[in-house]
Amino acid sequence: MTQKVRKAVFPAAGLGTRFLPATKASPKEMLPIVDKPMIQYAVEEAEACNIKEFIMITGKSKRAIEDHFDYAWELEENLKNKGKKNLLREIQRLAKHQFAYIRQGAPLGLGHAILCAKPFVKDEPFAVILSDDIIDPDDSLLKEMIDISGRHGATVLALQRVPKAEIHRYGVIAGTEVEKNVYKISDMVEKPKASEAPSDLAIIGRYILTPDIFSIIEKTSPGKGGEIQLTDALKSLLQKKPVYGYLFEGKRYDGGDKIGYLKATVELALKNPTVSKQFKEYLLSTISPMITKEQP
Ligand code: UTP
Repeated sequence: MTQKVRKAVFPAAGLGTRFLPATKASPKEMLPIVDKPMIQYAVEEAEACNIKEFIMITGKSKRAIEDHFDYAWELEENLKNKGKKNLLREIQRLAKHQFAYIRQGAPLGLGHAILCAKPFVKDEPFAVILSDDIIDPDDSLLKEMIDISGRHGATVLALQRVPKAEIHRYGVIAGTEVEKNVYKISDMVEKPKASEAPSDLAIIGRYILTPDIFSIIEKTSPGKGGEIQLTDALKSLLQKKPVYGYLFEGKRYDGGDKIGYLKATVELALKNPTVSKQFKEYLLSTISPMITKEQP
């Protein structure tokens, strides 16, 4: 019988250089989208799939992540005394979960970051969530992936079609569609040139992995950028076992990039009941005069 996915790994030890200077002393994963840090969206996504254990891979300047998911007695007392029950409930809710923190030591690559989780994951399938890839909370990408992984008893990667000009930023697959939006992967390449990409299907930051990936990562040499790449390890896995990709057609924002982060902020603010009306009015009043001016 296929094992349930009960654990999620959140690699968060990267340097976040695209967001410097903001990320010099603060984690990129703590950058807020409206009123929640990116990593909280990721944790809530796992929570919605009944995942019970949350394994964070952190590094230097990342301690704010631990504090964010911990109890905060003084703040809680303050909210209690002021009768702010909803806020109190909101900040206490996540702290009730079981979190484990592992320091990566040095950012040696995504594959290496995942390997750090080995003692906590042990021998069961697990999810990997890159919190700077923001999935619209109304979408159920991770649930679909867990379901596909359960049916096939295999590794499943999230895919999205990306324009040619952006393909060099991703791991890219070759594969055959075996059921609607499910691809059996035959090859993958990390960050190819547009002319060498095997398709426009890029791997995005959600994975359901099986524990046999750990021994493969252990044998994987540094690849692109001198980092131990998860894509290289998955490519080796392909030689032994089937690997599937699920084509996600919903909304995803690359929160590790300034424009992607701004798009996520605008679109999620427009959906947020506490600010959407006012924010929409503000956007319209700011943009409408620009559009009128541009018209001949
Ligand atoms: P990125 O490629 O976005 O790298 O990593 P980064 O360092 O976070 O950001 P830039 O490119 O310098 O701006 C993808 C994910 O993998 C994690 C990152 O934290 C991010 O969630 N990661 C990457 C690690 O945990 N460890 C690593 O060694 C590398």
